Amino acid sequence: MNHSTYSYLQKWLHAVSMIIMVWLMSSGYYAALISRSVDVKGAISTFNVALATLFAPVFFFRMYLSFGQGYADVFRSGDAMRYAAFLVHNLMYLTTCVVIVSGFLMMNREIDMFGLFYLPVVITDLQLRGWISFSHTWGCCVLALLLVVHVAAVIKHQLAGKLILKGMFPKPFHVSTHQ
Ligand code: HEM
Ligand code: HEM
Repeated sequence: MNHSTYSYLQKWLHAVSMIIMVWLMSSGYYAALISRSVDVKGAISTFNVALATLFAPVFFFRMYLSFGQGYADVFRSGDAMRYAAFLVHNLMYLTTCVVIVSGFLMMNREIDMFGLFYLPVVITDLQLRGWISFSHTWGCCVLALLLVVHVAAVIKHQLAGKLILKGMFPKPFHVSTHQ
């Protein structure tokens, strides 16, 4: 990503998606694989489904602004690291898209939007819903893997002296190094 094109709005959108998606992934896996309490699983499920539905338009807006951006620069650079970053970033966008759409379509109950309104079930065919649920599960695994690669690359760059974490947050959170 060319820093001059990484705008204030894109930084906000990255920060918001980072917080929400890290929560959805960690609590989703906690509910699915670790917790044995039916109440905890139910509470996480209801809250996360509403949160992810609310988050969907924010993410699609972010994708509209950033998906595939800067490809001409990247291809011209001939730099393998830039190709790799471009590939991982854009795969993260595509996979998140699959996860959001499949999550919405696989619902077997109305979506309770924090008690304010309800969204109906879209697909009633059980077999089709089963396939979509399967893609949600696998989409989440691929996304978790991409996220690990993404964060590992950020740490690697940071340790190599490229202070990209400093430029990642919009101004109010920006920690100045000036004395
Ligand atoms: C612990 C979590 C995360 C950290 C520490 C982190 C860190 C960063 C940093 C430092 C950059 C800027 C790279 C640069 O300046 O070249 C970046 C860019 C990016 N990150 Fe993350 N990130 C995290 C989570 C996420 C998540 C959950 C997504 C999900 C889509 C994501 C997607 C992206 C994308 C697509 C870019 C490229 C710029 C853009 O399109 O916004 N990151 N990340
Ligand atoms: C970026 C968005 C999303 C992320 C990161 C995410 C993540 C996860 C994870 C990690 C799980 C547990 C593993 C599994 O069973 O597959 C899960 C399950 C589930 N997700 Fe998502 N999800 C997202 C979007 C959605 C959306 C938009 C909906 C529905 C509107 C949804 C509905 C569900 C449901 C129904 C389950 C099954 C367990 C439960 O009832 O909580 N997800 N999700």
